[in-house]
Amino acid sequence: MVSSANAHAAAGRRPLVVGNWKMNGTRVSCVELLAGLRAAGPFDAEVSVCCPFPYLADVALSLQGSGIGWGAQDCSQHEPGAYTGEVAAVMLAEFGCRHVIVGHSERRLHHAESDTLVADKARLALSHGLTPIVCVGETRAERDAGSTELVVKRQLSAVIHTLGHCVSQIVVAYEPVWAIGTGLTATPQQAQAVHAVLRAQLLAASTRAGEMRLLYGGSVNAGNAQELFAQPDIDGALVGGASLKVADFSAICRAASHVALGSIGKSRT
Ligand code: PGA
Repeated sequence: MVSSANAHAAAGRRPLVVGNWKMNGTRVSCVELLAGLRAAGPFDAEVSVCCPFPYLADVALSLQGSGIGWGAQDCSQHEPGAYTGEVAAVMLAEFGCRHVIVGHSERRLHHAESDTLVADKARLALSHGLTPIVCVGETRAERDAGSTELVVKRQLSAVIHTLGHCVSQIVVAYEPVWAIGTGLTATPQQAQAVHAVLRAQLLAASTRAGEMRLLYGGSVNAGNAQELFAQPDIDGALVGGASLKVADFSAICRAASHVALGSIGKSRT
């Protein structure tokens, strides 16, 4: 019997918690939030916050030397050039970004982002030294129709097709669309089942996929984080609403840190 905490550690997977602030906050509130987060740390899990573009310089200043990383919520699929309103991955690298979220369901939905566009963004992010956090996930209707597996595999396969074995350098976030911002969380078992499917698909593409972090996202909070992180293929979380509150976000980071320290152990079945 392998405890899940041991399963993460044995595979060399340090838990990762990423805050997705979305289009929230002010310059002042962001700096206050980060001061609180710094004070709550350091954390044994890896922690990062993805802020709106205009706050990147402030966030970088606030977090320098803290061990907490930062990043953005999107990037262009193009290198710098005549693309009004876009932000290039190389620019994010200049601001010290560690991560960039690509293919969030809100972008797929409101900006009609396709699987191949998301894959192109991931490729450019990687080529500039950023770690793309590629989001996949099914809608309520797709889950009800029994096509969850089909949908997430299709979304991920576009990225595998573009990146080849380099896919092992990305982070994947499984975010069921029906669980985002709704207070409805996938059960740890539902989430683990999808993570296992994604892990198997990644393993077929790269021998290093066992070392990849697969995050769960969708109404993660201080109350449900620990049980989610106890699943053998859930290596952390992408956190929206709860990342805007210091107490809630730091509790999630602590729950992931317990996994990093191997102090929770649930049996793999
Ligand atoms: P939520 O958002 O935690 O508010 O559900 C997660 C996300 O959209 O990444």
